[in-house]
Amino acid sequence: MSEPSIVPPHTRTIVELGMGDGRLIESLAKGDPETIYIGVELDAQQFAQAKSRMHLQNAFVVHGSFEDIVARFPDNSIDGFIAVLPDPAFIDEKREEQWRPFYRVVHAKLKKPGAFRLVTEITDELLQPVGNDAFDRWTVWLVETFKSLGFKVADLYEGPPPEYSSHCLNQFRGDPERIRMMTLELAT
Ligand SMILES: C[S@@+](CC[C@H](N)C(=O)[O-])C[C@H]1O[C@@H](n2cnc3c(N)ncnc32)[C@H](O)[C@@H]1O
Repeated sequence: MSEPSIVPPHTRTIVELGMGDGRLIESLAKGDPETIYIGVELDAQQFAQAKSRMHLQNAFVVHGSFEDIVARFPDNSIDGFIAVLPDPAFIDEKREEQWRPFYRVVHAKLKKPGAFRLVTEITDELLQPVGNDAFDRWTVWLVETFKSLGFKVADLYEGPPPEYSSHCLNQFRGDPERIRMMTLELAT
């Protein structure tokens, strides 16, 4: 018999992958009490920080690898995933073959329709400012990659969503020429 779902029926559920210290998920959950927010974090210290700030009825944090945890959700059960500045192991162009299977699983777990908001960044290898050619080429690669994984690109824009705040976002915002960020609004 399959394991019972940990996702309550008839509720919107949003999952943040690699939530760090949890400040983003806390603010999203506060502003959207009808939705259940689940944050996943592998690092014990980051997880402990996130757990200590979660006092809302609609926000939960899980300690572990999102690769293991996402695989346990039923297919077509999650309304949205959010990934803000994933580690290179889950977005670096050179490691694409390693991380592709994970985003296929993310797609499978999303409802149809469902949404995946990805905020990621490009830097220059020599830490010089990122020129428009490099930025445009990278954008095309991102779009084509996620399309090839079955996602539609509903929107994309340079920079993170303005209302988002996280530890890494707040650091990266301080160096906008050398760390150029992109938000992809992906849909199933
Ligand atoms: C660059 S940080 C970004 C953290 C946060 N989203 C922010 O914007 O401040 C990436 C985070 O993903 C976490 N992480 C990396 N691999 C993970 C995995 N397989 N499962 C869960 N969390 C993971 C790291 O521990 C780290 O906290």
